[in-house]
Amino acid sequence: MSTTTLTGKVAVVTGAARGQGRSHAVRLARAGADIVAIDVCAQTAKFSGYPLAEPEDLAETARLVEAEGRKILTKQVDVRDLAGQQAAVADTIAVFGRLDIVIANAGVCSWGRLWEISAEQFQEAIDINLVGVWNTVKATVPAMIEAGNGGSIVTVSSSAGVKAPPGCGHYAASKFGVVGLTKSLAVELSEYGIRVNTVLPYGTNTPLGTDTSMYAMFEQHPGFVYSYPPNLLKTDGLVEPEEISEAVVWLASDSAGVITGAQIPVDKGFLAR
Ligand SMILES: NC(=O)c1ccc[n+]([C@@H]2O[C@H](COP(=O)([O-])OP(=O)(O)OC[C@H]3O[C@@H](n4cnc5c(N)ncnc54)[C@H](O)[C@@H]3O)[C@@H](O)[C@H]2O)c1
Repeated sequence: MSTTTLTGKVAVVTGAARGQGRSHAVRLARAGADIVAIDVCAQTAKFSGYPLAEPEDLAETARLVEAEGRKILTKQVDVRDLAGQQAAVADTIAVFGRLDIVIANAGVCSWGRLWEISAEQFQEAIDINLVGVWNTVKATVPAMIEAGNGGSIVTVSSSAGVKAPPGCGHYAASKFGVVGLTKSLAVELSEYGIRVNTVLPYGTNTPLGTDTSMYAMFEQHPGFVYSYPPNLLKTDGLVEPEEISEAVVWLASDSAGVITGAQIPVDKGFLAR
């Protein structure tokens, strides 16, 4: 019997306006969960070589979730804004009465060698990718404990969170931080029946994953390319967001009921080489 049903559950997804976050929201809704979709929906990342989402992207996520027959609450909040995330969680409880699943997915990437990027560029990666995830944890965990239903938290790190590549060391530092935070949280929340795991995507077909500004880095430093070898599986393209969602929904569900503190690569075998 499948235990991947999420009927009656409520899931918060950050970075849900497009890309992997949208896919996770839609796939969680298809499994039966109502959704709270958080995204900044504004051009607030100064150093990424690609634009962030716009409000109409979040509206499209809402349309797709509703097409799955589920309810959705959308919130335009920057994950760096702890009070904004706490207000979104308060609205979640007011509207849905519970919170079971958290997907801490929002993130940005930019490129540059560690000693050449500015302090501001380094800080942006840490503030959005690591402090933003901590803010999500800080905002959501009290409500999950209070509800007493257990639950599942999935953080989105990266293959760069366990195998640091050149050219984006600030990104790697933030994603290594996400792995450490997730492992500590898994231990701390075990007594409440709340599982905490992280997924490690690599090369996924989203605006972040197809950002061509990374090519300038490879042109200037050709040796860096050896840190990005061909994948073992399906070598003809990037991973699709829906393929990451399969792992996320599994971790969110009772099918992964004995999995906590784990780092799950979803990377066509990149980390195995
Ligand atoms: N695409 C890849 O190749 C890849 C690989 C490994 C890990 N990841 C990680 O996957 C996650 C999702 O990225 P994606 O590939 O879907 O990229 P994406 O750029 O398509 O989506 C990221 C979403 O996060 C939102 N966002 C950015 N900064 C925010 C902020 N401060 N507050 C709230 N929302 C914010 C954006 O508006 C966007 O909708 C990120 O954490 C990323 O680091 C991506």
